Amino acid sequence: MDFQSAMTSLFSAEGRQDPYPAYDVLRGHAPIFQAIDDRWFVTTHELTSRILRDPGMRVSDAGDYDEFWPDWQENRGVAAIVQSMLQNNPPDHTRVRRAAASTFTARRVAAMRDVITRQAGELIEAMPDETDFMTAFAYPLPIGVICALLGVPDTDMPWFRRQAADLTVVLEPISTEEEMRAADAAARELENYFIGLIAERQRHPREDLTSALAAAGSGLTGSELLANLVLLLVAGFETTTNLLGTGLRILLDHPDLASRLRSDPGLAPAFVEEMLRYDSPVQLASRFTSAAVELDGRKLPAGSALTLLLGSANRDPARYPDPHRFDPDRPNVQPVSFGGGAHYCLGAPLARLEAQVAFPLLLATLPGLALAGVPEHRDRLVLRGYATLPITTG
Ligand code: HEM
Repeated sequence: MDFQSAMTSLFSAEGRQDPYPAYDVLRGHAPIFQAIDDRWFVTTHELTSRILRDPGMRVSDAGDYDEFWPDWQENRGVAAIVQSMLQNNPPDHTRVRRAAASTFTARRVAAMRDVITRQAGELIEAMPDETDFMTAFAYPLPIGVICALLGVPDTDMPWFRRQAADLTVVLEPISTEEEMRAADAAARELENYFIGLIAERQRHPREDLTSALAAAGSGLTGSELLANLVLLLVAGFETTTNLLGTGLRILLDHPDLASRLRSDPGLAPAFVEEMLRYDSPVQLASRFTSAAVELDGRKLPAGSALTLLLGSANRDPARYPDPHRFDPDRPNVQPVSFGGGAHYCLGAPLARLEAQVAFPLLLATLPGLALAGVPEHRDRLVLRGYATLPITTG
């Protein structure tokens, strides 16, 4: 494959089924290069990590949207994400992130272990002999866990899940008009729902994250609170679903490794880190240069747009020898799958915990677990994962 066909492949539906051969070609071409609309693409682990941590880089924020899409606030799905910390820069980002991080603590995440174990157990219990793993487990678990975290009652969960699924498309740079309309409608419903929940928790606080965030003095304005509650839902749902789906597929493809994990659940953290590296649930991140900068000998003017190919960075042979091999014994695995620097994924400990609980439980409860058909990837640019993963539970 030459450079041009690698770029074409990356932006085609077939190429996206397996982007790794194209990443190899692009990384071999250069750590950073300019293509498509003058955008800069970054391919290596070293440069990606450096850019993510560089305070001279910024994310696109409300001010940028005002310029290139004056009506952006009319689509509430887009507005929720643009007004959330994901698309805030300092000083707003620093303030909002601090408020959110002070409530979304390690203690709160650790306390979710029992909830995750119970929910995962119930989903496994309810699985028929032949099923689609995505529908039966990978979609319901993360949304159930987020609902529990936020204090959304179990009875509202199916409704919540439908809205969240419609909203996820706002994380993608390319979508259809119909998808955008559905995202807008879902965001409006969710905003109304959260307005009710916030008011209720301000009157009668509980132990949940909504109560903590809504507490007076959390440092967030009303619209920031709303946008970031919606963000938690969007950012924590399909990403974790994809980790569960790709992770299970890896285990089914490597029965020897799966039986190691079955007999030693203490290996789960190492398996999950390697799963995140091997097939990152988030494939792209975007940044802009705040000022002119030189990267790997290329001069980028202020305002240059960068696309960081996270999936390529994770398979960089300069950082991970024999990168296309899944190897849970690999030392020093630090994938860029959760980003890095100021915007490092706030939910990373929760996503890790869900996967670390789920895989050993699945292997222990369903010893005959096997693939029962050909899995299909969803055709998405940013979020990589399966649309269907047919399994038999044995
Ligand atoms: C940010 C990945 C799960 C909440 C991010 C970013 C990445 C990411 C790559 C940074 C984006 C950037 O720098 O432009 C993932 C992956 C997950 C996952 C791969 C699952 C395997 C979760 C969960 C939650 C969550 C479970 C919460 C319930 C957030 C939030 C941010 C974020 C709030 C924004 C942080 C900021 O801008 O300061 N995530 N995420 N994520 N994630 Fe996650």
